[in-house]
Amino acid sequence: MHMQHKVLILDFGSQYTQLIARRVREAGVYSEIHPCTVSLEKLKSLNPSALILSGGPSSVLDDGAPLVSARIFELGLPVLGICYGMQLMAHLLGGKVAPASDREYGRAQLAFAEKTPLWADIGKDSLNVWMSHGDKVLSPPPGFCVSAKTANIEVAAMADEKRRLYALQFHPEVAHSEAGEKMLRNFLFEVAGLTPSWNMSSFIDSVLTELTEKIGDNKVVCALSGGIDSTVVAVLLHKAIGHNLHCIFVDNGLLRLNEADEVVGYLQKHFDLNLKMIDASDQFLDSLAGVSDPEKKRKIIGHTFIDIFEKEAKAISGVKYLAQGTLYPDVIESESFKGPSAVIKSHHNVGGLPEKMELSLVEPLRELFKDEVRKVARELGLPDFIVWRHPFPGPGLAIRVLGEVERERLDILRQADKIVQNELLAADLYYKVWQGFAVLLPLKTVGVMGDERTYENVVALRIVDSIDAMTADWSRIPPDVLARISNRIINEVRGVNRVVFDISSKPPGTIEWE
Ligand code: XMP
Repeated sequence: MHMQHKVLILDFGSQYTQLIARRVREAGVYSEIHPCTVSLEKLKSLNPSALILSGGPSSVLDDGAPLVSARIFELGLPVLGICYGMQLMAHLLGGKVAPASDREYGRAQLAFAEKTPLWADIGKDSLNVWMSHGDKVLSPPPGFCVSAKTANIEVAAMADEKRRLYALQFHPEVAHSEAGEKMLRNFLFEVAGLTPSWNMSSFIDSVLTELTEKIGDNKVVCALSGGIDSTVVAVLLHKAIGHNLHCIFVDNGLLRLNEADEVVGYLQKHFDLNLKMIDASDQFLDSLAGVSDPEKKRKIIGHTFIDIFEKEAKAISGVKYLAQGTLYPDVIESESFKGPSAVIKSHHNVGGLPEKMELSLVEPLRELFKDEVRKVARELGLPDFIVWRHPFPGPGLAIRVLGEVERERLDILRQADKIVQNELLAADLYYKVWQGFAVLLPLKTVGVMGDERTYENVVALRIVDSIDAMTADWSRIPPDVLARISNRIINEVRGVNRVVFDISSKPPGTIEWE
C-alpha cells in the first residue's frame, strides 16, 4: 500500500473495530486493521503515522488477555486507546486497572476535567457518551493527566500530551457518543498532524494494487449474482487481473423480469468481462418441486447452486481463488486477534465451497459497509440502476412465491413485481426506499371483475425503509402511488384479484416473508 498517511488500528476483538476504521476513512485518512498479535517488527515495517488500540471483550487482568509489547509506546507515534485499549495502555505503562463494581453499559455523562487537544472545538463541558466496559482505570500511569470523568468513573479519559498518548474509556466511534467523531478527527488532525487526503478513489487504487500483488498470474472465479456487491467485486478484479477473472452467472429461474439481461448485458457491453451464463432454471425448479417449507427451499437452492458452480469452476483449469462480495456486516464474529477466522452468514450462496474446492478467498469489500460499496460503485462509473439496485435475496423469487414454487406462479409474481419496480421509479421513490417488491401469497380470495365472480391470488406489497437491513420500517408510500400499483397489478396481471400492503416493521417481522 503506498499511502501518504496510514493509521494502524490494532484489533482486540471489539465489535466496533470496523466502525473505528470507517470513521477514520470518513475523516479522509487511510487506515488498516491488524490483529493485536502483529509483531513489533511488522508494525514498524508498516510505517504508520498513528496507532489506535480498539476495544475488546477481555480483561487485561485475565490470564491470556491479548497484550501488545509496551514498546509500541516508545516509537514516538501518537496512540489512541479506546475502552480495552485504554485499560491496556494504563496496564502496560504503570497505571492501575481494576474490575468496576458496577459494570457500565450504555449512556454516560462525560465531564471534561483537563483541557487536551482531543477536546478542541467541541464547545461543551459535558457530553453524552456510550460506555461498554467491565474494568476501569483506577489511576493513570505516570505522566498522564485525567482528562475526563463520569459519575461512575474517576478516569473516563486520560492523556499524556508530551508523548501524544490518549485514551478514552467510552466509544467515540459509535453514533450515540456525542462529538465522538470530532474527538477522532482531533486525534488525527490536531494530535497526529495528519491531513485528510484519502477518498474512495484512493481506496480503489490501493485495492487494485493489493489484488494484483496477491493474485499475480493466477486465475480467480467469481459468482456474479446481478447485485451490487458481486458486480463491484467483478469490476474491481477485472480491472486488476483482466481475463484471469472468470465470472459465472447462474440463471436459477428465480430471477426478476429481465434481471440477467440488465446487469449482465451492461457488464458485457462495458467491461469485456470473461463471463459465462448458465441457464440452470430446470435444475432448480425441478429440485424445488413439491417443496413449500422456506428453510428447505433455501437449502435446496444453496446446494443446487454449489453443485452447479463447483462443476463450472472445476472446468476452468488452474483456478486458485474464489472472489466474494462479503461486506463487513456479513462478517458476524470478529475473532481477529486469534487469527482471521470469521463466520459468514449462512445464507451466502457459496458457503462451504472454498474448503471443498481448496480455493482461497478474495474479499475486497470485506471492510466496507453497504453505503461505502455504493460509493465505490459510483467511483467505478457504474450507472445508477446498478449502484442503487435494491437488494435481492440469493434464493430469489422462490422465497417470495409462498408455498410451492411453480413456473406459472413465478410468472405471475414477475409481472406484479415489475409493476412495483416501475411505479416506484415513476413516483421517484425507488431510490428513496431500501427495498420494494411483491410477494405472491398461497391463498385465493373472492373478487368481482366485470360481472364475473373471481377466485384468484393475492399479492402483498413489501416496501421498507432501512439503513442496513438489520432493522426496517414499512415505507409511508403515498396512497395514490399504492392505488396505482394495486390497480395496475389487478388489471394487468392475470390470476391476481387482490393486493394488500404489509405494514410490519423489522423486528419483529423480517423484510422477506420467508
Ligand atoms: P430479512 O428477510 O432477513 O432480510 O429481513 C434482510 C435483507 O437480506 C436480504 N436477504 C438475503 N440476501 N441471501 C441474500 O443474499 C438470502 O438468502 C437472503 N435472505 C434475505 C433481504 O432481501 C433483505 O435485504
